[in-house]
Amino acid sequence: MQQHLFIGGEWKAASSYTTLKSPYSGEIIAEVAEATAEDAKAAIQAASDARSEMRTMPAHQRSAILEKLADLLEERREDAARIIAREASKPWKAALAEVDRTVQTYKFAAEEAKRIHGETIPLDAAPGGEGRMAYTLKEPVGVVGAITPFNFPLNLVAHKVGPALAAGNTVVLKPAEQTPLSAYLIAELLEQAGLPAGALNVISGDGKTIGDVLVTDPRVSYITFTGSPAVGTEIRSKAGLKRVTLELGSNAAVIIDRDTDVDAVIDRCVSGAFANQGQVCISVQRIYVVDELYDTFVSRFIEATQRLKIGDPLEPDTDVSALISAKDVERVREWLEEAVQAGARIALGGQAKGGILEPTVLLNVDPTSKVSCREVFAPLVLIHSVSSIDEAVNHVNDSIYGLQAGIYTRNITTALDAADKLEVGGVMINDIPSFRVDHMPYGGVKQSGTGREGVKYAMEEMLETKLIVIKR
Ligand code: SIN
Repeated sequence: MQQHLFIGGEWKAASSYTTLKSPYSGEIIAEVAEATAEDAKAAIQAASDARSEMRTMPAHQRSAILEKLADLLEERREDAARIIAREASKPWKAALAEVDRTVQTYKFAAEEAKRIHGETIPLDAAPGGEGRMAYTLKEPVGVVGAITPFNFPLNLVAHKVGPALAAGNTVVLKPAEQTPLSAYLIAELLEQAGLPAGALNVISGDGKTIGDVLVTDPRVSYITFTGSPAVGTEIRSKAGLKRVTLELGSNAAVIIDRDTDVDAVIDRCVSGAFANQGQVCISVQRIYVVDELYDTFVSRFIEATQRLKIGDPLEPDTDVSALISAKDVERVREWLEEAVQAGARIALGGQAKGGILEPTVLLNVDPTSKVSCREVFAPLVLIHSVSSIDEAVNHVNDSIYGLQAGIYTRNITTALDAADKLEVGGVMINDIPSFRVDHMPYGGVKQSGTGREGVKYAMEEMLETKLIVIKR
């Protein structure tokens, strides 16, 4: 299969194609178009030309297109999951769950399209403001440049495309190189749903070539990016006065208080650590357990991890499959080696077989080891004993990241104190940091990013406020 570019409502052949292979089996999935800088400029022009049609389209019509998209995606649920499972090696159950979440995300976008409004301003609150009335309007920012990652190739596209279209913007989408097909499926479905030509353009290819054009072209008003802090920092430094939202990484942690019912929480913690091979920004990477419970927690955690089924992402009962690339397997093995040299003990796993890294549990990890202080993005978790919740909170905060954190405790004061002190964008009380539903505000502090997603919150970043003042 040859996958072309989608520009200005047309499927366009590219000057070159790259072979997309399954990270699990190495089988060839498709030949995928490599957009050039010229293609990126053509996509921006198409998005720019479609601005006025999207800007003047009534809210109910934008909403209906997004609603239709959600319906079409629901009808193609298994096809979409198969694309995700093949190109990302996401296990089938998780791929289906991602499709279901994506349907929700577009439904939320359809609803929010009808709720865009400004406010009235009491100008007479200031001396000199008498005799005037004022109100604000919310207007689309224009062309949105969206750069999306491989780990949720359908739903993290939805978190950018849904809000952008709901707000009346047009989009140039650059999907992750490893997972372009999920994004092209959305272009196909939006075409069927009646989206005007040029309102969504999808261009796959080299991140730097396309990214540089999107970030520096003056016709693009806003950049929304999910990916690594290094690329996020580069985008911010090149974007000049453009608005930028960055959803970056984290080394998310959960705290287990002494009163926790270990059996009740263990499966959830295991799934938080290993779902999608740990390739989730809010994956459980660090677990801090109050010392009375430490031994019990570790042994139950290992028992539950041993029950995970490892293998083919297309098998319905697989829990853990291949990492996105051989390079990542190699990187994590090096980090593991470094941690062991610094005194860590591998309590489970640690071996790689082909593209699969076994679910790995580490104990006694030095906090300066990369597996602790950097984002691992792999099925690897470390468990630490702490003598108090304060100590655990200090460990969680001793990080360059701050996306989400979790704390299990039955004590409401402990929970609320920790919620106050944790330096993160979201605190999950009695849950793991990996909890997310698609309308909640989602984003981080420190190097985890700037701005918030979650449909309504993403739309706030994609709308300009215009003030109208009337003098009587
Ligand atoms: C992410 O990895 O940032 C997204 C996590 C999610 O949507 O569950």
